[in-house]
Amino acid sequence: MRTGVIKKTAPAAGLATLLAIAVIMACGPGIERKEAAAEKMVAEPVLAPTPPMGFNTWNKFGCNVDERLIRETADALVETGMRDAGYKHLVIDDCWQVSRGADGRIVADPARFPGGMKALADYVHGRGLAFGLYTDLGPKTCEGRPGSLGFEDLDAATYAEWGVDYIKVDWCNADDLDARVQYTKFHDALRRTGRPIVLSICEWGRNDPWTWARGVGQLWRTTSDIGDNWESVAWIINANSRLYAAAGPGGWNDPDMLEVGNGGMTGDEYRAHFSLWAIMASPLMAGNDLRAMTDETKNILLNREVIAVDQDPLGVQGRVVIDRGYGGQVWLKPLADGSKAVAFLNLAGRELDLYVRWSQIGIPAGPARVRDLWAHKDLDVHTDTGKNFDERFTVKVPAHGVVLVRLRPGLTP
Ligand code: GLA
Repeated sequence: MRTGVIKKTAPAAGLATLLAIAVIMACGPGIERKEAAAEKMVAEPVLAPTPPMGFNTWNKFGCNVDERLIRETADALVETGMRDAGYKHLVIDDCWQVSRGADGRIVADPARFPGGMKALADYVHGRGLAFGLYTDLGPKTCEGRPGSLGFEDLDAATYAEWGVDYIKVDWCNADDLDARVQYTKFHDALRRTGRPIVLSICEWGRNDPWTWARGVGQLWRTTSDIGDNWESVAWIINANSRLYAAAGPGGWNDPDMLEVGNGGMTGDEYRAHFSLWAIMASPLMAGNDLRAMTDETKNILLNREVIAVDQDPLGVQGRVVIDRGYGGQVWLKPLADGSKAVAFLNLAGRELDLYVRWSQIGIPAGPARVRDLWAHKDLDVHTDTGKNFDERFTVKVPAHGVVLVRLRPGLTP
């Protein structure tokens, strides 16, 4: 099962090929060129109409990956309700691969993955999830495992045979390459397999992927690696916030995987991290141990109202509309139903009162319904006639915390 794949791809392309062959056989080679050209024009499927969601091994487990962890994580995704909340892609990051065979094929670590990748992918698919792997554009991955340089077609074909639905492609040992050319080569190799495979571009924003990656991959990292601490999260929010114009259905800025639940931040900090990823329409790839989550972690990762902000079909990356300078920011993300998600972010180390006027966020003067997406409750209808200063909508925001609301103008339900 694949998230958001518009089913028009492999079967349709297969049918097109059969038809093309039939026509060629019936009409001779003159038609062949026209048919081949027509086939090339089969539209590329939209693989990520909303930001991809799932789990990736790296943040918590690093190189300590094996098939038991993957099976148990697949089970946990189902049992915790995460799969049904949208976390569909189960991705093994670096270190699953050890060598290449005599035929050049990539070899999964036989000690850690004795059943092989095909069987593991089958298991993951059997749980209603999608299966993802990791490689590198250069000759070696960041952890020194074999990379894909020169093996793009063979690797893509191998992934397709195994049933891979998502491939993260890293940038270590690749600085001499042209990122756009090489990622396009990888994209084309994937496309030739006929299997829809999400391409996660991971060159850390080195080559401004927001200017060229749409149509090459479905998500592109915008920064260096996240750490499980507030300084890292705040730094990434700032860097990623400027790139909002590049995001939209089919292609997303990727400020890196989640650290929620890994223990280095407070509950307020993790709620702010998750809320800001949602308001920035970021991919939501959990990076914690899903087999052992506290209630607080579950309440964050499984907050469906916040996930709905992230996954909103309008696909707009929210942005800062008010920056108070002393660490208080107001963020706005317009949603498909005409309502607006508004995040009050406190980057300062002390509690702040933050406020907004309806006119500052494009809401007509008058009443608006306000729902608090962490308290899960409707607040009183708030009226801002635009006349009196004390009509501004004000919230108290804890240090390194957030208040996230959904505003609906007017009083009609
Ligand atoms: C890079 C990537 C990380 C992770 C590691 C694996 O640092 O940015 O997300 O994939 O490599 O080695």
